[in-house]
Amino acid sequence: MNSMFVLFAMAAFVAAARGCSPLDRILVKAEWAMASDGGHKDSELGSSIFRALVNIDPALRGTFSAVGGEDMGSAQFRAFAFRVVAGIERLIAVLDVDAVLSADLAVLHSQHVARDVSAANYESMLSAIMSVVPSAVGNSCFSSPSWSRCLNVIAAAM
Ligand code: HEM
Repeated sequence: MNSMFVLFAMAAFVAAARGCSPLDRILVKAEWAMASDGGHKDSELGSSIFRALVNIDPALRGTFSAVGGEDMGSAQFRAFAFRVVAGIERLIAVLDVDAVLSADLAVLHSQHVARDVSAANYESMLSAIMSVVPSAVGNSCFSSPSWSRCLNVIAAAM
């Protein structure tokens, strides 16, 4: 009986560890709040994330030509980056409200699937976010594994 209990507990632990657990969500939310300084740094974060994204995959610059991607310092592109960060912020805010998260992800999925955004592109975006947020939070309290698990849940649904 005891060994059955241990087996069930281990299975539950593995399932939680693979996804974005309640503790992961708390950490990601708290650290995002620090990084974005309650929204005051969103514009800065947006520009940094997209600069990191095109450093990782320079071919992606052309993907954003309709929103001024050829000049990432332009007002048009900065406004776009700001809107994407607002999207990231919204997803993080509803990480623990399953129905709202799913609905939001479904809308983002339909917008991105129409633009042929690939799994590799999402990998690059996650790497960009993971390279920018730690310094904005202060490296000492960046919970990398929690961010990785939660961002992967988002990317998988997009
Ligand atoms: C966490 C991942 C992502 C989030 C939260 C996200 C969010 C968004 C949002 C909110 C918009 C609408 C912006 C607007 O109102 O103009 C958007 C548009 C777009 N996204 Fe994403 N995005 C993500 C990843 C990606 C990736 C990986 C790519 C491709 C490399 C991509 C390509 C685009 C494009 C091409 C548009 C439309 C730009 C246009 O209007 O021409 N996104 N995204």
